[in-house]
Amino acid sequence: MSADYTGVRRIGGQIAKRLAEQNDLEGAKALQSLLRKRGVPLQASGYAEALPRDAGSRLPLVEEGQWPMTPIMLAGEAGHTISQFIEDARHIGLLAEKGVSARLGLLVYGPPGTGKTLLAGHIAAILKRPFYIARLDSLISSRLGETAKNIRGIFEFVPARNAVLFLDEMDAIAKLRDDRHELGELKRVVNTVLQGLDSLTDDVVTIGATNHPHLLDPAIWRRFPYKVELGLPDEEVRSSLWLHFLFQGGEAHKDEARLLARASDGLNGADIENIALAARRRSILGNREPSLAQILTAVGASRAGSPRLLDDREMDTAEKKALTVLLHDKGRISQADIARIVGVSRQMVHRYLKETNDG
Ligand SMILES: Nc1ncnc2c1ncn2[C@@H]1O[C@H](COP(=O)(O)OP(=O)(O)O)[C@@H](O)[C@H]1O
Ligand SMILES: [Mg+2]
Repeated sequence: MSADYTGVRRIGGQIAKRLAEQNDLEGAKALQSLLRKRGVPLQASGYAEALPRDAGSRLPLVEEGQWPMTPIMLAGEAGHTISQFIEDARHIGLLAEKGVSARLGLLVYGPPGTGKTLLAGHIAAILKRPFYIARLDSLISSRLGETAKNIRGIFEFVPARNAVLFLDEMDAIAKLRDDRHELGELKRVVNTVLQGLDSLTDDVVTIGATNHPHLLDPAIWRRFPYKVELGLPDEEVRSSLWLHFLFQGGEAHKDEARLLARASDGLNGADIENIALAARRRSILGNREPSLAQILTAVGASRAGSPRLLDDREMDTAEKKALTVLLHDKGRISQADIARIVGVSRQMVHRYLKETNDG
């Protein structure tokens, strides 16, 4: 518990020895190989590593992230670049030997809630490396000179750890352009980031993320040879997201997931997750399956970044009408199916649509 690695190894070794004496050779071997492993995250044990901290606030400049448990759904294009990046990272030794190693820098950009942080965590997990997260916005200090010092602190801390360094909110640097800061500071901070990136050896994996790639300094942009845009999820990806988060992968619900995917055009992965989890909470606490109509109504009332969570109320006429229109415009289903989902007669569906068309 106090992160006494020597003690852990010594006692672990004794247990392994005893296992071997009791003829549990496999157990002994498994334990020994665990003890030999370095950089295993000890977070679950309550252990906090001595992380670099901001001199003023004493807040840590990096945190160790967990390897994610949930899968990530990606469109084909993004998946291709990512696989290539992972492949190159895995074989960096060989590539270096042949003189064709690339800097392992990946820039992930796109709107919030599209899985940038999740993706970085997955890459760390696949490469079996510890995952260090530094948020550039939280490194920015109002004390002159402190921001550059914080950034240097990160680049000095990470290299020795065979880790994935995740630089989140990269565009925060550009905000130094505002008048609270001395004029030279933006330039100085950009230079510090560039120096930091250039100081890394080829085996360090760096992933940068930004919601605003156009705000990024071009020289920083060039330091990341691999680039992936994570846009809002397309229909295919939304369908997988609904299937996973709402139906826990149950193939029997494929048609419902498709319909939800069509209705949720414009929402991001985090929105879909939030609506789906709200629906499951309602269904567990209310002891019944979430109604598709209620979920669709929540979807229809949601905007990217502000999901509307469901409630248990009966739907009123206005909501039924709105849902009918949503299903008609986006659902690509028959009026009979609309009637069934909304829970009204076909005549009523017809009337709602006519009223909407008439004004
Ligand atoms: N493409 C996706 N696949 C699976 N889950 C996703 C996806 N996009 C978003 N999510 C869900 O939303 C959460 C927030 O996403 P996050 O990675 O923080 O987005 P970003 O870093 O782009 O703002 C994730 O932890 C995940 O549960
Ligand atoms: Mg993020």
